[in-house]
Amino acid sequence: MKLVAATGNQHKLREMREIFPDFEFLSAEEAGFFEDVEETEDSFLGNARLKARAVMRATGLPALADDSGLCVDALGGEPGVYSARYSALLAPRDWLAAHSALCGDRDARNRAFLLTRLRGVNDRSAHFCCAVVLCFPDGRELEAEGRTFGRILEREQGTCGFGYDPLFFSDDLHKSFGEAEEGEKNAVSHRGRALSLLREKL
Ligand code: IMP
Repeated sequence: MKLVAATGNQHKLREMREIFPDFEFLSAEEAGFFEDVEETEDSFLGNARLKARAVMRATGLPALADDSGLCVDALGGEPGVYSARYSALLAPRDWLAAHSALCGDRDARNRAFLLTRLRGVNDRSAHFCCAVVLCFPDGRELEAEGRTFGRILEREQGTCGFGYDPLFFSDDLHKSFGEAEEGEKNAVSHRGRALSLLREKL
């Protein structure tokens, strides 16, 4: 089956291909979709639905979207659905000015802001959450969610992965996602779990 991955994130696309090796994946661009779908919902599932439906309608092909993020218990679930835009949306102006050297690296700036928010906080428990939605042109939709648990480190460990990976110490792997090989991470990750569940439903 041909599927369009409703994402521009190469890391996510690789993870999807690894878990669905028997499907032919097109990136959104390869399928002729260049828009940036605005994530206006307040849940991962809601945002994944928006993206999958937009890409399915525009391309006429089954579309698979993911929306994901990091939820930190001591911060009331922050950054949650704002994970990708965390520092841009929530950091005060003086913090942004003091960290202007990081302005070209969104992920690094978000990690630095998270460490600032957690300064002096003992409870560092957190989880990643991922919602995946597969929309078919005939109106059928399949949905699944996955979570993976761990804690936020005091400083970055490892350079693998993307986003918050170097700061996330995985309960399953007993090391940070930044220190994990791609296959190791996929076996326990929120995205791996959500996609495996979706695969079962399919
Ligand atoms: P999305 O593209 O709106 O789903 O944004 C997800 C954001 O959450 C990313 O930009 C990362 O900051 C963070 N995130 C989601 N999944 C992961 C992961 O597997 N590792 C590290 N960060 C992640």
